[in-house]
Amino acid sequence: MNLLQFTIDLAEKAGKIILETEKKHIKITKKAKYDLVTNADKASEKFIMEQIKKHYPNHEILSEEDFFKNKQIPNAEYVWIIDPLDGTTNFAHGLPIFSISIALVHTKKIKSSKNFEYMHGEIIVGVVHAPKMHETFYAAKNKGAYLNGKRIRTSAVKNLENALMVTGFPVGHKNVNVEHFTKMLPKCQALRRLGSAALDLCYIACGRFDSYWEFRLKAWDIAAGSLIAEEAGGIVTDTNGKTLDLFGQDILATNGFLHKEVVKIFSKL
Ligand code: IPD
Ligand code: CA
Ligand code: CA
Repeated sequence: MNLLQFTIDLAEKAGKIILETEKKHIKITKKAKYDLVTNADKASEKFIMEQIKKHYPNHEILSEEDFFKNKQIPNAEYVWIIDPLDGTTNFAHGLPIFSISIALVHTKKIKSSKNFEYMHGEIIVGVVHAPKMHETFYAAKNKGAYLNGKRIRTSAVKNLENALMVTGFPVGHKNVNVEHFTKMLPKCQALRRLGSAALDLCYIACGRFDSYWEFRLKAWDIAAGSLIAEEAGGIVTDTNGKTLDLFGQDILATNGFLHKEVVKIFSKL
């Protein structure tokens, strides 16, 4: 089985595990005052990690809940970056907007980012599955982006006035992004907050959204989605318009047409 198909199967099976767990009983615990984790996050992660270890024993894994316990950033040649449930707060409240995000990075060199020593490499595969929506987004480097088997492309919206935008707010830092939000709101057609960064990026990829930005994210929130958005024709950078640093915590993804203008507006803040 090829890598992409393996990853798609993994995400879709993890989705089934999440839905089965939901049917039985969701058990919510808190990692911090506003930061939730559920038994579904843990069951999904356990399954995904076991399967990767079984099929790719030489690869290493960076996965959200595992990292929370072990605080280890892997630096093998191939590293899987996983969010076993992106949108946990939505899931815990019965909102259907959540996903499983799985990416594979091919390490080129070890480099220092703003925040960590990490493997600097190329994301070669990205899959984001939204089990309640029956949608699987995926991309392999230089092979285009797909939704449920159909090629997807970013939107053709060329000005902010016609743009539907999306952003997010970090758990526990409720004042972060308020200034950017307030600045952008009157300039665009409408502005949303859905609650799954991985899906926000995929919705850029398939043209539902025209621009997305967010601060204080983790690599597992954006690794798969950023490849999918790029492969669909979008531009993905940090909020200054510089090369995306997976560990740099901020991101700006647009359909390409709006990128310069959004960067310019943010540069004045
Ligand atoms: C969260 C979601 C949300 C974003 C938060 C993330 P989680 O991930 O991606 O959209 O705004 O910053 O922490 O905690 O549900 O995996
Ligand atoms: Ca997440
Ligand atoms: Ca998560």
